[in-house]
Amino acid sequence: MQVQRLLLLNGPNLNRLGQREPETYGTDTIEDIINKVKEVAEEHSFQLEHFQSNHEGELIDKLHETEGEISGVVFNPAAYTHTSVALRDAVASITAPVIEVHISNVHQREEFRHRSMLAAVCAGQVVGFGTDGYRLATLGLIEKIIN
Ligand code: DQA
Repeated sequence: MQVQRLLLLNGPNLNRLGQREPETYGTDTIEDIINKVKEVAEEHSFQLEHFQSNHEGELIDKLHETEGEISGVVFNPAAYTHTSVALRDAVASITAPVIEVHISNVHQREEFRHRSMLAAVCAGQVVGFGTDGYRLATLGLIEKIIN
């Protein structure tokens, strides 16, 4: 049997984690997050692919490329969460379940961060657990895939 694959997808400015607003996002870097998620994936016999981009179209292309290749996606769309109908449509267009993750509790922050364009087409959402949210989202995603 072929090994199933998960995609960890990160949107704009998340390459700056570690240096970026540590009071809001903590001090883990994107490499720390990839390693945490990889550990959970591999413990459950999934392979992990990771992609980060600051460009909306590249994130859309990556979501399209999951078709037939990837069993589930952990996605932090970052600021595009609040603006992007195109990313929402991309998530709605694919078969793999997508879990939306936010490091910070967006509901305790500015009003414009309270609305997610993507939440309604995602299989679940993890918000406000810091970078540990990625691990929790991966566990939830795996549960959904295997049950
Ligand atoms: C974020 C929250 C967004 O509002 C913000 O634009 C980000 C990060 C988070 O992980 O908390 O870039 O997605």
